[in-house]
Formats: sequence, structure tokens, C-alpha cells
Amino acid sequence: MIRKFTHRDMRRILEIESNSFPKSAYDRFTFFYFSRLYQFLVYKDEKIIAYIIFDERNGHIASIAVDPLHRRRGIGTRLVEEVLKTCGRAWAEVRVSNKTAQAFYEVLGFIKIAVIPNYYREEDAHVMARSR
Ligand SMILES: CC(C)(COP(=O)(O)OP(=O)(O)OC[C@H]1O[C@@H](n2cnc3c(N)ncnc32)[C@H](O)[C@@H]1OP(=O)(O)O)[C@@H](O)C(=O)NCCC(=O)NCCS
Repeated sequence: MIRKFTHRDMRRILEIESNSFPKSAYDRFTFFYFSRLYQFLVYKDEKIIAYIIFDERNGHIASIAVDPLHRRRGIGTRLVEEVLKTCGRAWAEVRVSNKTAQAFYEVLGFIKIAVIPNYYREEDAHVMARSR
């Protein structure tokens, strides 16, 4: 099931985050800030296994992660579909080295529309986008 983030979810979100982005995980303060500014949805089975954060006003995906033990089961796809349903479009920055995320977004019909030099300070980002 997909539902809105609540602060009781924070511990699991931080676990998923550190398993998904070992070198650049967001901390609890960043997630708190996201929860105030953006749509923050979690995917829950017996426990929380994924999340997506996006800006409802324009479909910008600020972050998405699925627990490594639960990948390739269509959960990331379900979460991006929520953005498309809500906003009619979606876009995200993706590290040029993150081939998994690029493959994921490409299969979902996103295309690379720009490169932002040094977006991650030490690394460029592709901007990937699709409309409904
Ligand atoms: C990217 C991510 C969110 C995908 O989540 P997921 O739930 O595994 O994705 P799905 O199961 O919906 O995958 C849909 C399709 O994307 C493609 N895909 C997903 N992971 C892939 C991989 N590792 N290699 C190649 N293709 C992949 C496949 O075509 C897949 O369909 P298939 O499994 O039927 O072949 C997940 O890998 C993740 O959390 N990665 C770490 C965090 C991250 O990089 N976030 C994005 C930052 S921009």
C-alpha cells in the first residue's frame, strides 16, 4: 500500500536511505524538511520498503529509493506512477554514474533532456523527464 509519510516512519526511511545511497545519504533533518515542503509517500508491506518525495506543483522527483531486498518487483514503478497521476508529468536529476536509475527511468518512458554540470558537486546530473 502507498500512503503519506508520518514521523513514525523516519527510522525505516533512514535505513532504506543509508542502504540505497551509502556515500550520500540524506539525514533526518533533510527528510523532515522534505516532509514539510513536498509530497512524501511511502510504500508499506509488512514494513516500509520504499519512498518517493516529489513536488506536486511541477512533478520534480527530489528522491526515490526502494529497499535493496525488494527491488525489481515493480515498487519503484508504482511510486513514479503516483507522481504522473498527480502531476501529469515527472522529472528528476540522476547522477551520470547511476546506470540503474537511468535504466529504470528509461523503461518508464523518461528521456534525457539536459545535463547539469557538477550538480552533485563532484559529478554531473542527467535531467530525465516524461509527460503522462
Ligand atoms: C532505481 C530504483 C528506485 C528502482 O526501483 P525498483 O522497485 O527496483 O524498480 P522496478 O522494479 O519498478 O523496475 C522497473 C524496471 O526498471 C528497470 N530496472 C530497474 N532496476 C534495474 C537495474 N538494476 N538494471 C537494469 N534495469 C533496471 C527494469 O527494466 C525494471 O523492469 P524488470 O524488473 O521487469 O526488468 C531502485 O533501484 C533504487 O532504490 N535504487 C537506489 C536509489 C536510487 O538510485 N534512486 C534514484 C536516484 S535518481
